[in-house]
Amino acid sequence: MKACIFDLDGVLVDTAKYHFIAWRRLANELGVDFNEHDNEQLKGLSRDASLDVILKKGGVSATLEQRTEWMFNKNEWYLELVHQMNSDEVLPNTKELLADLKANGCKIALGSASKNAVLILERVDIYKYFDAIIDGTKTSKSKPDPEVFLLGAESLGCKPEECIVFEDAISGVQAAKTGGFYAIGIGSEDVLTQADIVFPSLEGLSFEKLNQIKF
Ligand code: BG6
Ligand code: MG
Repeated sequence: MKACIFDLDGVLVDTAKYHFIAWRRLANELGVDFNEHDNEQLKGLSRDASLDVILKKGGVSATLEQRTEWMFNKNEWYLELVHQMNSDEVLPNTKELLADLKANGCKIALGSASKNAVLILERVDIYKYFDAIIDGTKTSKSKPDPEVFLLGAESLGCKPEECIVFEDAISGVQAAKTGGFYAIGIGSEDVLTQADIVFPSLEGLSFEKLNQIKF
């Protein structure tokens, strides 16, 4: 293991719940029912691709102008919640794990669909741990396409098989596996069925423990 590539929302920070609140608000305004199960399918998808799923579910058609306005509104509601965040919302053991990986010479990249990634990393004070940041401003294909992780590995000068990807989303785990990465699912084994191994959170993980995993 030479490098670790982390998804952001739901892996390092507890922002998945804010995406859910904002998407549900938009869906409800459009008359579309939206529950936690629907949200699971949205995790990891780009803003554009997420809107597609909601519109399809509700059978709603939209002009390009409407799409732009709805995505803008969703992001404003999401950012209102993000601006209330403090560094406590970095998930348990995140800072410790990142520092431990760094101290042991393991490269670290971010592989996130979010266009708000840098803002959030700075807000919770973990930006400094990253050797490379691949986010929604640098990718053109939404997960489950492996583009985001392939760019992450390339930026670190590593091959996919030398990297571990940490993901909480079904689409993200698919992206990692399609790209040839070892995928650690963060969440529930029942949901992240394609991951190589699943942990409920980053708690208890360390450089040493990751090195004991049989790739
Ligand atoms: C992913 C989230 O990390 O980023 C998705 O899992 C979200 O829920 C996507 O839609 C895009 O984020 P943003 O911040 O650019 O709207
Ligand atoms: Mg995520």
